[in-house]
Amino acid sequence: MKILIIGNGGREYALGLRLLADTAKHNLFFAPGNGATTRLGKNIKFNNLNELALWAKDNAIELTIVGGEEPLSAGVVDIFKSYGLEIFGPSKAAARLEASKVFMKDVLTRAGVRTAKHISTNDIAQADKFIDEQAAKNRNVVVKADGLCAGKGVIIAKSADEAKNAVRQMLSENSFGVAGSRVVIEEYLDGFELSFFAICDGERFSSLPVAQDHKRLLDGDEGPNTGGMGAYAPTPLASTELIKKIEKDVIAPTLKAMKELDCEFCGVLFAGIMVVDNEPIVLEFNVRFGDPECEVLMPLIDGELADGLAAAARGELVEFKIKKAYAVGVVIASQNYPYGASEPAKITEPAEREGAYIDYARVSDDKSALMATGGRVCVCVGVAPSIQEAANNAYLLAGDVKFKGAKYRKDIAYQVL
Ligand code: AMP
Ligand code: GLY
Repeated sequence: MKILIIGNGGREYALGLRLLADTAKHNLFFAPGNGATTRLGKNIKFNNLNELALWAKDNAIELTIVGGEEPLSAGVVDIFKSYGLEIFGPSKAAARLEASKVFMKDVLTRAGVRTAKHISTNDIAQADKFIDEQAAKNRNVVVKADGLCAGKGVIIAKSADEAKNAVRQMLSENSFGVAGSRVVIEEYLDGFELSFFAICDGERFSSLPVAQDHKRLLDGDEGPNTGGMGAYAPTPLASTELIKKIEKDVIAPTLKAMKELDCEFCGVLFAGIMVVDNEPIVLEFNVRFGDPECEVLMPLIDGELADGLAAAARGELVEFKIKKAYAVGVVIASQNYPYGASEPAKITEPAEREGAYIDYARVSDDKSALMATGGRVCVCVGVAPSIQEAANNAYLLAGDVKFKGAKYRKDIAYQVL
C-alpha cells in the first residue's frame, strides 16, 4: 500500500516501522517526517493541509494515518475525505473530544461516564466559589485551560490560593491565549493512571494493550511534567475485570454519545484514566495515539496493521490481534528538556542489540550523522516475554545511545517491577 503518515515524532516513526513489519509491502511517506524517517520512507514538505491532500491525490496515496492532535483539530480528515482519500482519524468535530475540555466534559455527562466532579466557567467568582467549596471539604483541585496547550494547561493546585491564582492567570491574564478563555476546575483524584487505547470505526472498537506513561521528568515521578519520559504495556495493573469495566462504562457509551451528537468517532480514542478504588474515572480524552505509548504498542500488534487501520477508516473494523509479549520504552531527551532549547548534538548510534531498537523523534540528518535537535530525541524500546526483560533490553540499548546532554529516567515501569 502507498501510505502517508502525518507528523514528525517518535510516534510516527514507530507507526512507520511497524507498518514495514506487515507481510504486505508498503511504500511509506512522512509529512513532514524527521531526520530518521527517511530510513523508512520518503519525507514530504507541505505548506498547508489542503496542499498535502492534493499531493496525496496526485500520488495515489491509499491510506493516510494522522499522528498528532493539531492536524486533526484543524480538520485534516475532513479535507482528505473531500478529495475522496482514505484517512484514519477523527473528523474536526469529533476531535473536539481533545481540543476542548468543556466539550469532552459535556460528552461524558451525556454518556453517563464517570469523570472528576467539575465546573467549567469563564467567571472568576463562580470559580472561586467552587474552589472554596472543595477546600471546605479538604479537597484540592486541578485547574485546566479549555483548549490545546501542548500539555501546559493543567495546574495541580496544592492550595485554594494557588488554584485561584491559576484561574486568574488563565482567565484574565490570557497566559494561554484563546485556549484559556474558559477553564475547567475539577476535584483532585488520588489513584493510579492508565492510558487506554481503542481503535474505533465510528460504532465499534477494538482495545489495545493498556499502557502506563511516565509524565514527570525525574525518577520517582519527581520534577516537572513532560510529554512523557517512558511507557510500558501491557500493564498488570489493569486486570481483565478493570479492562471490561473501561470498555463497557467508558469507551462504548462515549462512542454512542458521539454518534448521537452527529460526530461519530473514527480513529484512536485514547482515554487517560485515573483508577480510584478499582473504578475507572476519565481524566481526559485524546483523539490519537499517545507518544511514547504508541512506541510500546506498535511491537505488540499482530497481523497486518495497514489493513486493520484501513478497515477502521472505512467503518469496517476487525478486531486487532495482540502478541503475547511486553514492551518498555525509555525516552532519551536533550539536556535542557523540558525547560528550553538545547544545542544540536551529534548522536553516536549504538550497535544492534537483541530484543531492542530505537524509534527516532527530534533528530535531523547531517549527512555524516544524526543530530539530536532538542526535546525528546528518541525512544529505546525493549520487547520480551516479561516486563523485567523488556526493561533490561531497553536500558542496555539506552546506555549505548551517546550524545552531549543525553538524559533518561532509570525507573520506567517501576510501578510493576
Ligand atoms: P490532562 O491533560 O487532563 O490529562 O492532565 C495532565 C495530567 O495531570 C494527568 O495525566 C494527571 O497526571 C494530572 N491530572 C489531571 N487531572 C487530574 C485530577 N483530576 N486529579 C489528579 N491528577 C490529575
Ligand atoms: N503520552 C501522553 C500523550 O501523548 O498525550
